Amino acid sequence: GHVYLTRPLGDVVEQFRQQLPGELRVHRTSGLPPTRQELLESVQGAEAIISLVTDRIDAEVLDAAGDQLKVVANVAVGYDNIDLDAAAERNVIVTNTPGVLDEAVADLTLALLLATTRRVAEGDRFIRTGTEWIWSPESYVGLDVSAGATLGILGLGRIGMAVAKRAQAFGMTIIATGRRAHHDDARSLGVSPASSIDELLETADIVSLHCPLTEDTKHLIGAEQLAAMKPGSYLINTARGPLVDEEALADVIDSGHLGGAGLDVHEFEPATNPRLRTMEQVVMLPHIGSAGDVTRDEMASLAFRNAIAVLNGEQPITPVG
Ligand code: GLV
Ligand code: GLV
Repeated sequence: GHVYLTRPLGDVVEQFRQQLPGELRVHRTSGLPPTRQELLESVQGAEAIISLVTDRIDAEVLDAAGDQLKVVANVAVGYDNIDLDAAAERNVIVTNTPGVLDEAVADLTLALLLATTRRVAEGDRFIRTGTEWIWSPESYVGLDVSAGATLGILGLGRIGMAVAKRAQAFGMTIIATGRRAHHDDARSLGVSPASSIDELLETADIVSLHCPLTEDTKHLIGAEQLAAMKPGSYLINTARGPLVDEEALADVIDSGHLGGAGLDVHEFEPATNPRLRTMEQVVMLPHIGSAGDVTRDEMASLAFRNAIAVLNGEQPITPVG
């Protein structure tokens, strides 16, 4: 059986081509993901699928592949695009790429945090209008994150810890939810555990989301949670779009309750919310959290090493579930 890679991943792929027990087939149509039909056809007879976040790998795809399929190696830390139950029922191992992208995602989280609170993107948009301007002490005043602002990290995992490390350097007060918030390594980064999500939302000047998307976390941030957030506070999302009810978010920014939002991910990707798109207080990016040059190669490499391990009958390096 062959190994099916759903998108070209650059030079790093050549390193692994020789190590694969089977032929490598790479989907190529000018950078686009395979259509559903292309995916269903290309997986037929595959022993391994190396997938990206844009590929929905469900029972239908697994069945289209056939009984010889052994592993789905996702080139992402998130794996909400894969039906884990359907994979388990068919004895297909699923792997992801934790660890290698924590610093890159944390960097982008801080970029969004500063771009919203200090109005970086808004200022850039203004300059590009070519409007004449004279410096004013009252223009573009934003939240001073280094004056003891409180950052609330919702879902303190590896990425959240990398965000905390940066926030500590900014002198921010850091609170977090998640088991790890009670660990010594979190305490040494100045993280205090929040007693509940509600407490975190009520206390933080900036709320940053770092939890995975599951059935339980869909719309974790809805109208009620947004209303509980501190007036003038900011929401940052570099995790997964459906964690946030975007219409409810547009409502609370419209009403002036929230100071703004920084969104790298979107509820209905690749669609973005037309109301949020018109708001100066909102910064939106096209899901580029892990898009660092070194990081992208490390993600591809880890996915290939996972697939090769399983195909050789060895334990995968970073299995999911
Ligand atoms: C990207 O979104 C990832 O989950 O790695
Ligand atoms: C995963 O690595 C996370 O940060 O939650």
